[in-house]
Parts: sequence; structure tokens; C-alpha cells
Amino acid sequence: MTSQQVWCFLPTTALLFLLSVQTFAEVMKSVSDCDRFLLDQTPPHVPGILEAGRILDQDRYKFICQTYGNQRRFVTLYDVRNRIPVFSAFKFTGEVYGRRPKSVWKIEPQLEDPNGDKKMIPGNGNRTYNHQAGTVDYRSNRTFDRGHIFPSSYASTKADKMSTFTLTNVVPQAESFNKGSWNKMERCTKCVMEKYCVNSSGGTGGFVVTGALPSSSSTLNNRVNVPTALWSAFCCYSAVAEAWIASGHWGHNVQDESKHKYLKTETLEDLQHRLRRSNSEFVIFPGSKCPLTTTVTEFYAEMKKKSCLCPPTILDPSPSVSGPSHSHRLMLFFPFFLFSYHHCVF
Ligand SMILES: *[C@@H]1O[C@H](CO)[C@@H](O)[C@H](O)[C@H]1NC(C)=O
Ligand SMILES: *[C@@H]1O[C@H](CO)[C@@H](O)[C@H](O)[C@H]1NC(C)=O
Ligand SMILES: *[C@@H]1O[C@H](CO)[C@@H](O)[C@H](O)[C@H]1NC(C)=O
Repeated sequence: MTSQQVWCFLPTTALLFLLSVQTFAEVMKSVSDCDRFLLDQTPPHVPGILEAGRILDQDRYKFICQTYGNQRRFVTLYDVRNRIPVFSAFKFTGEVYGRRPKSVWKIEPQLEDPNGDKKMIPGNGNRTYNHQAGTVDYRSNRTFDRGHIFPSSYASTKADKMSTFTLTNVVPQAESFNKGSWNKMERCTKCVMEKYCVNSSGGTGGFVVTGALPSSSSTLNNRVNVPTALWSAFCCYSAVAEAWIASGHWGHNVQDESKHKYLKTETLEDLQHRLRRSNSEFVIFPGSKCPLTTTVTEFYAEMKKKSCLCPPTILDPSPSVSGPSHSHRLMLFFPFFLFSYHHCVF
């Protein structure tokens, strides 16, 4: 779509949207009001926390339909005790607005007061909130960034991007991990989704779920859990590849040991295995056609845009210098092989 078309199209869509949605339920018992951001409208199966779409401990875990400017943008499962998200889920539809907007940090009023505002509002930077992190918590130790779970760079419009700047969508993330290996992973995956998560009508759509694994006792300001690891997975049908494609990533929440660090791309099966609890499976895209045992690393070599930052792929490994290679040795022996074969037959 050209930008001109976008400008003609947006007001109509916005109007239709306002006419069709009369009520907003921000903090929800069930995800059904906000399931359009989930593949097959189905949330992940998180052992002990969210099973068959039901939150087991409803006092502790809350679904937030992240609403900004009266429009729903993405969904978060939030842990009010640890004051970090379990995950945020969203649909990548391609970027319309290409910059990171300046935005104030927001909070979720309904976590503090069920009768509060039904959309995120700017937080008071000096206030500590009972059921969520505040800016003051993150100010206490600058070793940690406010690491986005749904990254602003994946959001489409300027308003979508602004909506990601809410304290219910961030975790304390080691600064060089956030700006280094995690950032490279986000950029590379975005490039793959831009090119491959395209359907037969040319529409972009990739489902992404990103989460944090809480630590047992590490906290920021004695209030906000510092997760031990972050994880992320995406899945989509690709008309280009004529297949469902998916990949996962996992990173320990510690400073990167080197500027050249890349996170390893793994299969959904391997990622789910890391996230399982005792003998209960974690399922990121339940009931879907997402492949469990393949990744998208085969596409990394084509991601040539400088901003993609995919891990280097080894196309032609340099030949071994110490003695003849395996294949050379085979060639040397080949005539002899043939000879002895014929010899034996006779
Ligand atoms: C927060 O505290 C700082 C320093 O104490 C003060 O300058 C600022 O006005 C306060 N902001 C709010 C929103 O209360
Ligand atoms: C900030 O956190 C780091 C890592 O947990 C810790 O080593 C450091 O002492 C903390 N700094 C302050 C000022 O609390
Ligand atoms: C193609 O993708 C767009 C964007 O995600 C979506 O709105 C549209 O319904 C999809 N079309 C088909 C035929 O799946």
C-alpha cells in the first residue's frame, strides 16, 4: 500500500472500529476479548499459570488487553506479585511508522483499582504502585533497562509504538543484553517476518509471543523481579515458502560477554523444552500448524539489509590446510575401489 492509500484508508478504518466497539474491558478474566493478537485466538499453555486458556491463580496473574487511544493493541499476561509480564502476544503486520517515538511511560490503572481507567495512562514517575512496577523502581539501578517484551520496533503505527511504552510490558533487562544480542535477534526476526510472513493476498502477518522467566529472588528496588531469561517465538503461514514457519530464541538476562554475541535460533520444541515445568509441557502456539522441529535460519543469508543483523551464515567453509580432505582421499581411492569391485565380481 502506498502512503497515500494509507492516509485515505486509515480514517475509514478508525471510524468503523469506533462504531463497532462500544466497551473496553482492560483487565480481563479470560483472553477472549483480546484474542485477535493470538494465533488461532488461542493463548499459550503455561504450566501452573495458564492452562487451557484459564488463569489458575486469578489474584496473581491478570490478562491485560493493552488499550491505548481507545484501541486495543496487544495482550499481556501480567504477574502482579513479581510485577513483570509472563508474556506479551501480538501480531506483527509490518511497520508503517519507522521511528521510535518519544513516549511517556504508562501504567495500568485497573491493576490498582478495578474501577480505574480502562486504558493505560501516564504513570507518576515518583510513585510506587502496589501491583505493578513504576518508573521509580527502574531508576533505582541503572544496570537494568526497561526491556520491552513487545518491542516498539515491531509495532506498526506511531500509536501502536506508543502503546508499547507501558510498565506492564517491560522487565528489568541487563543493558548490554537488551541493546546487544537481544536487539540483533529482534531485528533479524523482523526482517524474516517482513519477507516471509506474507499471505497470498500480500498481507503481512506474523504471530509473536515474547516472555520472561522470573528468577527465584533477584529483585530491583526490592519490588520488581529480575528475570533469569527472556524468550521469544514467532510463527506464520508463508505464501512465499508455501509452508508454516517458526523459530524461537532464548537469552540469559546477563550482560553480553562480547559485542559479537548472537543468540542461537532454536526450534519451538527446544524452546518449549527449556520452558517446561517438572513434567508439564509449555506450548507456545497450542493446536497450531507451527513446525516444532525446523527453524528459519536457512533464510538468514538473504537478509541483506544492513539493519537486519542476522547471525553470519557460513556459506563456503575454507578448505582444510592440513593434508588432503576427506573427499580428496575418497577420490584417490576411487579407481582402486572400482578395480577391486570388478575384480571381486569376476
Ligand atoms: C518527582 O520528584 C522530583 C524530585 O523530588 C520532583 O522534582 C518532581 O516534580 C516529582 N514529580 C512528580 C510527578 O511528582
Ligand atoms: C544493581 O544491580 C547489579 C546486578 O544485580 C548489582 O551488582 C549492583 O550492586 C546493583 N547496584 C545498586 C546501586 O543497587
Ligand atoms: C492476509 O494478511 C492480512 C494482514 O495480516 C490479513 O488482514 C488478511 O485477512 C490476510 N488474508 C488472507 C486471505 O488470509
